Amino acid sequence: MSDLEKTLSIIKPDAIERALENKIKEEFISNGFKIAKEKKIQLTKSEAELFYKVHETKPFYSDLCDYLSSGPIIVMILEKNDAVKENRKLMGATDPKKADEGTIRKEYGISIDKNSVHGSDSLENAKIEISFFFKDQQ
Ligand code: CMP
Repeated sequence: MSDLEKTLSIIKPDAIERALENKIKEEFISNGFKIAKEKKIQLTKSEAELFYKVHETKPFYSDLCDYLSSGPIIVMILEKNDAVKENRKLMGATDPKKADEGTIRKEYGISIDKNSVHGSDSLENAKIEISFFFKDQQ
């Protein structure tokens, strides 16, 4: 038995810039996700640094935070049975070059940095990331 879960998804600046937001949302909906909440925002660099704090020791951290704050993003709460795992499957590998056919990153991603979408990597992080963007949610 799988549980109904919530996960956090972000449509990143490279996808918004190329007007892919509706196509990507349609990917989620046609794969059985409900978009329970969504908003379009632009983060400051310090907000992006807080969001990606788990990566602060990585060499790519500063560029990553510059990039995430470089333009508008769409943050969404997605709901589905096993949402965390199902979303990671639908997104594909972090590097679009390594992503399987039919995944969002394979279809739309440009590079490991401009990989079009972010998704929580565990249920625990999903809760943290959801409350980062949607203060009233668990
Ligand atoms: P995301 O799932 O949003 O989580 C962290 C992001 O760091 C990741 O997607 C990539 O876009 C970005 N990134 C840049 N370089 C690397 C790297 N070498 N390994 C993993 N992630 C990277």
